[in-house]
Amino acid sequence: VPRRTLLGVAGAAGLTVGAAAGAGGHALAAEQPRALSTVGSASVPFHGRHQAGISSPLQAHGHLVAFDLVPGAGRDRAAALMRRWTSAAATMAEGRQPAEDNQIALDAGPSSLTVTFGFGASFFDRTGLRSQRPEALAPLPPFSADALDRQRSDGDLFVQVGADDALVAFHALRVLQKLAAGTAAVRWQMSGFNRTPGATAEPRTARNLMGQVDGTNNPRPSDADFDARVFVPASARPAWMANGSYVVVRRIRMLLDSWDQLSLAEQEKVIGRRKSDGAPLSGGTETTPVDLGGRRADGSLAIAGDAHVRVAAPESNGGAAMLRRPFSFHDGFDERGAPDAGLLFMAWQADPRRGFVPVQRKLDRGDGLSRFLRHEASALFAVPGGCAPGEYVGQRLLQ
Ligand code: HEM
Repeated sequence: VPRRTLLGVAGAAGLTVGAAAGAGGHALAAEQPRALSTVGSASVPFHGRHQAGISSPLQAHGHLVAFDLVPGAGRDRAAALMRRWTSAAATMAEGRQPAEDNQIALDAGPSSLTVTFGFGASFFDRTGLRSQRPEALAPLPPFSADALDRQRSDGDLFVQVGADDALVAFHALRVLQKLAAGTAAVRWQMSGFNRTPGATAEPRTARNLMGQVDGTNNPRPSDADFDARVFVPASARPAWMANGSYVVVRRIRMLLDSWDQLSLAEQEKVIGRRKSDGAPLSGGTETTPVDLGGRRADGSLAIAGDAHVRVAAPESNGGAAMLRRPFSFHDGFDERGAPDAGLLFMAWQADPRRGFVPVQRKLDRGDGLSRFLRHEASALFAVPGGCAPGEYVGQRLLQ
């Protein structure tokens, strides 16, 4: 059996991998298998104050899935399901196999697997917990750009799976779906991807399927106001949402055939940033703050009036901000031959009424990018805080 973790294989593939590539590595590798890279062995702790998969780095593969409770399943069965799901997710995040496993992820390490759980507004009706439904979970208002498929929107329960290996990600999805049997059934499921770690020479901000560097001006965990923007404060009501977050999920189809007809300069004007490196058109490099007042030599605004970064910026929206943590999707080509592709847009915030909603309202009215987008599905979930070993996610709501 070829040992595919040997340096020799890595060398043949032209990879440079840490110590294994150093001088003398060949002799060592003959006796000791070496990992080709650290992608498989990297892990993200499941337990903690916040659930994993919110501020953890983007993974290469993602599955979003919403479940509805089956008729007759109420609070007790929902609590038992959250207990089963939590235990399996914590086990898989360590790269171990849960009981009655299906062997799909055998051989692989945890591959930065994260599993994140949330509750939709309808969950509180079905479980008799209406008094515990957060006000922030009020339905999102309609937007003019919406062309929503209700079958692929909303849902009682939400699970986000992310991993840097496709088999590890599918494994987790399948394990969780099987554990739901008899209590909850899949309502909709979407799959997406991001760049594979190691594909770029050094770590870089991801690109989306329009080719733009996407995520530059996201709040960063090192920002002083990161927690206040993304997570529900411990003092907020309802108490069970302490340290949680709210996620808006939108399947946004990109009208790539129309987009591709624009010149590079036109595409850059729509966003307000250069495509090559993501630098703002007001000057500087990718991380230079955007100068919304900056002007060109001829006196015109460097960032157009309807540029996406102008209309979406906190400065244009009373400070409204969110953490965008998306996956790209491609589900083949439609009957006209156009790619069914775009962004599984996910915005995480402490309160969507001070995050996604005001920003999307503004974008809906005057964003140059909107002409190339169609919002096809939408959901909003309350994502409780993380749990300690021995507890389960959502325990403070369901116990
Ligand atoms: C910024 C693309 C939808 C909110 C950006 C940037 C790009 C981009 C390329 C500039 C780089 C960056 O700072 O990340 C897209 C695409 C979308 C989309 C392709 C749809 C497929 C949305 C939606 C919202 C949104 C629906 C919110 C309702 C923002 C915000 C920024 C941003 C808040 C940062 C603005 C700033 O402070 O500079 N987007 N976006 N985007 N986008 Fe979007």
